[in-house]
Amino acid sequence: MTKQDVIHKITGARNSPAKSSGHGKAPANIALVKYWGKRNAGLNLPVTSSLSISLGGLGTDTTIEPAATDEFILNGLPVPPDTAFAKRLREYLDLFRAPSRPTGFRVLTHNTIPTAAGLASSASGYAALALALDDLFNWNLSRCDLSILARLGSGSASRSVYNGFAEWHAGTRDDGMDSFAEPLDATWPGLSIGLVKISLAEKSISSRDAMKRTVENSSLYSAWPAHVARDLATVKQAIAARDFETLGRTAENNALAMHATAIAAWPPALFWLPESVKAMQTVWHLRATGVPVYFTMDAGPNLKLIAENKHAVEIQKHFHGMEWIQPFG
Ligand code: PMV
Repeated sequence: MTKQDVIHKITGARNSPAKSSGHGKAPANIALVKYWGKRNAGLNLPVTSSLSISLGGLGTDTTIEPAATDEFILNGLPVPPDTAFAKRLREYLDLFRAPSRPTGFRVLTHNTIPTAAGLASSASGYAALALALDDLFNWNLSRCDLSILARLGSGSASRSVYNGFAEWHAGTRDDGMDSFAEPLDATWPGLSIGLVKISLAEKSISSRDAMKRTVENSSLYSAWPAHVARDLATVKQAIAARDFETLGRTAENNALAMHATAIAAWPPALFWLPESVKAMQTVWHLRATGVPVYFTMDAGPNLKLIAENKHAVEIQKHFHGMEWIQPFG
């Protein structure tokens, strides 16, 4: 089963005519229970399910037009074709080229998440692109199918086709048709995410490579699926009960367990900088003094704080320049 086969299954005949342009908008998301490890790298099928919160209006806005050759514009600037960004985008778009259509695509992408926030934008980027392609070709796909299309670009993008909380079901099928995200029927006004920028420098290892290495040789990875199953159940209960302490504690522990599996790989995959650890210690110090705040971290050095809006002022005193987001307004 290839990505092409999956797209054929979802969109049917691949010769659907294109409109003059298609548009899609998708939020960035932060996993509270992480996706870490693939059972099928070709189709981005995960070993475990995962659960995220989307960042409301912050994400990616994309317009796509048929063109003679590929042309990519990111935040108003042309993307050189030999960059990793352009190569990955071209490979994804290859899946949607057909003899009856123009050979290229002009993709105009605007990240509405402040670039200075140090947040990976591939999740919102591939979700917005899947939505834009759906619009361009008039497919009118269901959200589940859009989630699968987005997953083929980047695993975590499967969760970015929704606002609010989303659970990406790992699924068991070889073709991954049961591996898509669904929204949780829950909101949490006042729940906030603080983006703590530690470094915006290019990572020394991609999440894709780090995941692969961890699954292949980290002795701690065998404990990860059971850890995730437990955390997923706990986080879902905490969301239903609006139990902030349980949500924060479980999300922070889940992130640290994920990083522990990566550190135990060889060569080690350590994303933290000294300033990341310092920021973790500030969070722990705040908690020790009675301020309820937790953190999560992805495959990079930046922290994402989990807190309630009523503590914003106190927390902001300790993290200057932090971006404060309220996913539910
Ligand atoms: O979607 P990818 O391949 O960039 O992987 C994302 C992995 C994490 O961000 C570390 C965790 C997650 O669930 O988003």
